[in-house]
Amino acid sequence: MQKLVIVGGAPLRGRIRIGGAKNASLALLCATVLAGDVVTIENIPDINDVRVMIKLIEFIGAEVEWQGSDCVRITPPEAIAEMPPYHLAKKLRASNLLLGPMLARFGRAEIPLPGGCNIGIRPMDLHFKGFAGMGAEITLEKGSVQATCKRLKGSRIYLDFPSVGATENIMMAACLAEGQTVVENVAKEPEIVDLANFLNCLGARVRGAGTDIIKIEGMTSLGGCQRYAVIPDRIEAGTFMVAAAATRGDIQLENVIPLHLEPFRAKLKEAGVDIIEGEECLRVKVSGPLKPIDIKTLPYPGFPTDMQSQMMSLLSTVSGTSLITENIFENRFQVVDELKRMGARIKVEGRLAIIEGAGQLHGTQVKATDLRAGAALVIAGLMAEGTTEITNVEYIYRGYHDFESKLNGLGANVKAMKNGA
Ligand code: EPZ
Repeated sequence: MQKLVIVGGAPLRGRIRIGGAKNASLALLCATVLAGDVVTIENIPDINDVRVMIKLIEFIGAEVEWQGSDCVRITPPEAIAEMPPYHLAKKLRASNLLLGPMLARFGRAEIPLPGGCNIGIRPMDLHFKGFAGMGAEITLEKGSVQATCKRLKGSRIYLDFPSVGATENIMMAACLAEGQTVVENVAKEPEIVDLANFLNCLGARVRGAGTDIIKIEGMTSLGGCQRYAVIPDRIEAGTFMVAAAATRGDIQLENVIPLHLEPFRAKLKEAGVDIIEGEECLRVKVSGPLKPIDIKTLPYPGFPTDMQSQMMSLLSTVSGTSLITENIFENRFQVVDELKRMGARIKVEGRLAIIEGAGQLHGTQVKATDLRAGAALVIAGLMAEGTTEITNVEYIYRGYHDFESKLNGLGANVKAMKNGA
């Protein structure tokens, strides 16, 4: 097991290049199961979740070859070699995104239920509602979900909640269904638009991604795609923006799409952070005192839940009372107990966290409980007085490529070590 040892206090300064989006990459890798010919995807981050997803599609029968550090060439499967195994599927929630493509392409799929995780129960009822609406037979037994259907039929589906995963799964399945599928109250995240653009590169006919209604004309088959570049990771970008603000630094982020960062750029500005926008870059610096703010997480274009823990760290040193309401997941305040060990003054009442900004956090031993909580503890360690040791950092490596070397390149003092060393 690894740990990160951080000596806090240095303001982050310099330039950082943001990598491809983890959550878009995972969906695109699943979508390659629908392809009828070779696909090349660029700007794909070399992170653990991507490597696990690649192993999963290789089990199904795809051939995958890395071409350089952030490009993969995929020959899609002609038939199912093996169903995704439990020991891999349980590692990441996004394994459930293989259901729609496999069901549409091969008429059957069996995926171990990804189960809950620290941030919530994370059911799949909306995914199943979509597949059943298109004529699939869904059964749940022995911890797996089985879906079968000779050929899906296009239908009208209303999502009770704009679920990102359900929107992606149903959109992919509908690409090979017979006739038109209309999905209402869909998620509008940038990753949804990226997936729709990729599917259309394969020859699908997906319209309306990014709005409340997506229409898909089913095709009999899809082709390949020469070169498709994944969008930049707005959550990695946001994490570095918050780290710069927390250390009162001054950094320039490159390879970003400023529009995708709008929800939390607005909030950081409200807190008194200076943000200067360029073409595909953004400068983040702090010149005066920061102010307490009130955050509510919401589906895009609201404040993203994946940035909530990072903001909790930042606001724990901003004097005054800040409020964070977590409306997406029922259990995403795990980082609070660890921040309190560092001196943060935070009270949790259900979905509301009340943060009394403490002057200074103090380094100590803490543990990551999920990916974004881990990133939040790194931010806390960067601004704490003294040394912070973070264990369970495997969570962080799931979603951030070269995290410590990127931070050290900005003047931080972060060392990865074997736990127990
Ligand atoms: C995606 O998860 C992301 N993961 C999450 O990022 C992100 O936090 C989340 O969307 C919300 O933006 C990937 O894309 C791989 P949801 P997903 O379905 O699709 C409920 C990270 O840190 N729901 O939009 O699982 C669910 O319980 C990860 O990168 C149902 O009730 O999220 C939750 O309360 C964490 N029934 C809410 O919707 C369903 O069938 C949002 O879930 C599906 C979801």
